[in-house]
Amino acid sequence: MHIEEITNKIHSMSLEEKVGQLNQAGLWDFELLCEEVRKGRVGSVILADSATAGNDEQQRVIIDQLNELQRIAVEESPVHIPLIFGRDVIHGYRTVLPVPLALAASFNPDAVEKAYRAVAREAANDGVHWTFSPMIDIARDPRWGRCIEGFGEDPYLTSKMGQAVIHGFQGEDNKKADSVAACAKHYLGYGAAEGGRDYNKAEISDYTLRNYYLKPFKAAVDAGTATVMNSFSEISGQPVASSRYLLHDILKDELGFKGFIISDWGSIEQLVYEGVAKDRKEAAALSANAELDMDMISKCYIDYMSKLVAEGKVSEEIIDKMVYRILYIKEKFGLLNNPYITHRQINYSEHFEITKQCADETVTLLKNEGILPLNTSKRIALIGPFLHEKRSLLGSWTLDADIDMVQSVAEAFADRVPDKDTLIFSQGDYLWDDILSELHNVDTVLVVLGESAKVTGENNCLANIELPQEQLELAKKMKRLGKKVIGVLCFGRPIALEKAEPYFDAILYAWHSGTYAAQSIADIVYGKVNPSGKLPMSFPRATGQIPIYYNYHAMPRNGMGYYGEGSNYLDCRSTPMYPFGYGMSYTKFAYSEARCEKAALT
Ligand code: GLC
Repeated sequence: MHIEEITNKIHSMSLEEKVGQLNQAGLWDFELLCEEVRKGRVGSVILADSATAGNDEQQRVIIDQLNELQRIAVEESPVHIPLIFGRDVIHGYRTVLPVPLALAASFNPDAVEKAYRAVAREAANDGVHWTFSPMIDIARDPRWGRCIEGFGEDPYLTSKMGQAVIHGFQGEDNKKADSVAACAKHYLGYGAAEGGRDYNKAEISDYTLRNYYLKPFKAAVDAGTATVMNSFSEISGQPVASSRYLLHDILKDELGFKGFIISDWGSIEQLVYEGVAKDRKEAAALSANAELDMDMISKCYIDYMSKLVAEGKVSEEIIDKMVYRILYIKEKFGLLNNPYITHRQINYSEHFEITKQCADETVTLLKNEGILPLNTSKRIALIGPFLHEKRSLLGSWTLDADIDMVQSVAEAFADRVPDKDTLIFSQGDYLWDDILSELHNVDTVLVVLGESAKVTGENNCLANIELPQEQLELAKKMKRLGKKVIGVLCFGRPIALEKAEPYFDAILYAWHSGTYAAQSIADIVYGKVNPSGKLPMSFPRATGQIPIYYNYHAMPRNGMGYYGEGSNYLDCRSTPMYPFGYGMSYTKFAYSEARCEKAALT
């Protein structure tokens, strides 16, 4: 089918058949789902087992199931329109990239685009037509666990990274078998949730909305994102899922978005819980009149839309526009002509190089008192909770990760040192005194710390983001023993390091850097890779400084410049511990005669 035929197709469809295209169903009851598809009541299937797919173990994709569902849709349903299968492929598939916030630290959109091309090849090969990525929510609050899924505090960096991900997933030719439709999310202002508490409301002026939070979405539309996902947010008193101003007037009319909007999980029905709809039927009317095109999971559209049209509460013209957008994307990504999956063998090692490069370029050197890089002949001790960890190195939102591809930090170091007696490994996670009798043989200790992936991501927010006390105590103990302490910090989010910093002679911020994180850490410690990561979010000195971000508006008193310095707390400096864009390398730089090519900038 071609674009001009879509309109004719829509005119040939009954209202029920049209409404079926607006419904995205779940996959947990396969037989029931087959029946719903057969009746033409499903336009899309989300390949997820739960509402927080980033936190819970998820069933792997079963290709035969997807092809059977597609066969029913094409051959047995009334409209014969193929389904579009969506899944959260956020920063990797079998091979996992660093979490997006870490990827932003590379400041290398070209590498990120190339890396996401590899991700798309792996995901499309398993039948994923559509991913719910990139997340391009501006975030200024590291208490918010989902800051790891976005690209930080800066609209420009986030825009460039979001475009790179979209181009990576969608490829040059959207109809190719390894192209995956992207989804820019969560529109809009999700990262401004009060108190860094997920799902919380946000007060955002139109000025701030347009100059910060909206800019990455404009970039995503300009990059041709196939879809956009609304946020759960309530912005300045109105939930986004019911806002025609945001979803239609700005996104579709002003920005010219041509794809379709998918609701976030159940967010149409949630208008009832937020008190703006008296029941699910009214919720369906509010979202449809805001032109939110497809309903993820809540079934409000499939349950009530025909009645709403019959009662004149929603016009069939709006339904036609919503269906057109969905069929337009299905056609654009080749689904209407090639609906079935042909699985091929993929050699995942082909993706090693670009994935490792991303990890190399995201790890950020925050402190180095002349101790790094180390020589592989130097005897060191290695201790800490992340020394033998594998799963959390991958980060949150890794539904399909192949954990067998992951090395621990201990294994990566052992691989790089010719003489095995050079390294003394503590065997425990928190245990370290198992090597106390050998510590007198070394003057340097590598302390590998971090946070579990399970305290990052959706609805995983922290009220305190200082280095965990028991981990600080570990560093202090090593200092008391007179050791040089190299801290390797494997955290997904920025943490507040002012109290901990004095106990480290070097700090390597390793984030949650994916399948090859451990190899990158070891290669940087031993100088095979020169660290180049730069911070995409400001690191506060203390939790109490949040929100803290570099692009502050000048404050009223004269001289309050950098980060609003001068407007101080009595018990803490107003500047960050480490500012946006900060990151060291082993290279020495000299700057001279800096000049701007323009005499004035608007
Ligand atoms: C979740 C998330 C969203 C995700 C969707 C599908 O609630 O907010 O980012 O893509 O549901 O799993």
